Amino acid sequence: MRKHVDFLVIGSGIAGLTYALKVAKRGKVCIVTKGKLNDTATSYAQGGIAAVTYTPDSYEKHIKDTLIAGDGLCDENIVRITITESTNRIKELIRWGIKFDKTKSGRFDLAKEGGHSEYRVLHHKDRTGREIEDTLVEQVKKHPMIEVIEDTFAIDIITEHHLGLEVNRRTKDITCYGAYILNPRTHLVDTILSKVTLIATGGAGQIYSTTTNPPISTGDGIAMVYRAKGTIENMEFMQFHPTALYNLQEKPSFLISEAVRGFGAVLRNAEGKEFMHKYDSRLALAPRDIVARAIDNELKVLGDDFVYLDCRHLPKNELISHFPTIYAKCLSVGIDITRDMIPVVPTAHYTCGGIKVDEFGRSSIHHLYASGECSCTGLHGANRLASNSLLESLVFSHRASEDSIETVKSIEFNDQVPDWNAEGMVLNEEMVLVTQSLKELQAIMTSYVGIVRSNLRLKRAFDRLEILYQETEALYDKSILTQKICELRNLINVGYLIIKAAMNRKESRGLHYSLDYPRIIETK
Ligand code: FAD
Ligand code: SIN
Repeated sequence: MRKHVDFLVIGSGIAGLTYALKVAKRGKVCIVTKGKLNDTATSYAQGGIAAVTYTPDSYEKHIKDTLIAGDGLCDENIVRITITESTNRIKELIRWGIKFDKTKSGRFDLAKEGGHSEYRVLHHKDRTGREIEDTLVEQVKKHPMIEVIEDTFAIDIITEHHLGLEVNRRTKDITCYGAYILNPRTHLVDTILSKVTLIATGGAGQIYSTTTNPPISTGDGIAMVYRAKGTIENMEFMQFHPTALYNLQEKPSFLISEAVRGFGAVLRNAEGKEFMHKYDSRLALAPRDIVARAIDNELKVLGDDFVYLDCRHLPKNELISHFPTIYAKCLSVGIDITRDMIPVVPTAHYTCGGIKVDEFGRSSIHHLYASGECSCTGLHGANRLASNSLLESLVFSHRASEDSIETVKSIEFNDQVPDWNAEGMVLNEEMVLVTQSLKELQAIMTSYVGIVRSNLRLKRAFDRLEILYQETEALYDKSILTQKICELRNLINVGYLIIKAAMNRKESRGLHYSLDYPRIIETK
């Protein structure tokens, strides 16, 4: 099949859906998504969206908190854009029908999370993402200009390379003409030609053995753009959330929102002792990199598997009413959070780096935009401030939509693009090895490229990844395509980008902590 659309959107989380709803007023939109519409990380978001609402909070305070969390690597211009535009984007969400919790007096019930100096997180109980995703999906489904293709996997964006032309990463003269799309049931590959393409494929948490990210988070967009010779940045900064429920059987790991700490919960080691005062004066509400590293250190020193999050001193009814999902989930595994401490561990959570974009979401490839977790705007720097991710997606999908609407007017389809060449590909029995290779990759990344790194660990990871890369490319080249092998290939590409970036950073900064480059002043 060959299809022509004005706007191709790859991904149906907050970044893809809000962009689609906006550009649909100027042309035909096609959203492709590899699961069902709401199979997204967005649906899992708990804490909420950080945005300035009332005094004594101010844009300047939110900007300062973001810059501090980012440990000197944020792009201040981007931080200012994001935070000053937050008010309009939140109003828009409310117009679409998204409901944020209010207090009895009718004011928004703002929560606090790590690294925030004020209460500023708008939320819908502890299931903010579900509220956002469901409302946006409803809007998209009834829009006459938006076509949705579910259960369909974008393999690669189409560039000059597919026309048989030489493409050079350095010249930056590369154009995107659409994408090749796999139907995983028939193994057939369709061509979608688009004037403008948005990549909104989310993060890459699945590269680690344990993650809060859903199975869809396999870094596909980042890998596609890397293969197309676009610019990727800051991949060394993979964020570990300090408090995922300790339950080895469960995939993905269940998150215990940072808002629970904002509500007053404290961290204790296995002996029941508080420990955060040893690491940071902001205690359990220090930025995430610091809290995750502190927990990691406690676990190593005491030889334990988890620490505890203690809510037992908090008002029972309010705790349950603010965090009904967390309460119910913990109860389902035998933990009554009003009476028992919750065993928690740091777990891979968020990809701070990604496809480098400018202030309008434009990538280094012409006619290709990126938004959401797959992108790197410069907002997060070396460590993302809690609840700034949904906000970033809103702001940059909006900006990208405005720019796309202007750009699309002067773009023609490129009908020289050939269809996918599947010649010589056979159904390969050895495809069972894909699952094994994925586990190996996750073990390598978890053992050597986790919260604490070193030159030796990174070198080991690099060497082991090289073997997996060669084996997987060989299998990919001669096999009928499946979603699983494409995802493995993408994760291996992303692993390479993380390890290379980590090797190149000769310091400890934000989420990248190396034993070979210790921080002089780590805390306080
Ligand atoms: P996603 O929502 O992940 O959507 C990606 C989409 O791309 C999916 O539809 C997927 O199927 C599709 N896709 C991927 N690859 C392909 C492909 N090859 N072909 C076709 N489709 C593809 N952030 C906050 O700001 N506040 C929070 O409270 C918060 N809580 C969180 C809690 C959890 C448990 C998790 C996991 C994350 C949380 N985050 C939070 C982070 C935030 O949810 C995500 O960063 C954000 O939702 C990402 O949105 P997105 O649109 O970029 O990607
Ligand atoms: C949380 O609720 O702790 C997650 C918030 C985030 O990832 O921004």
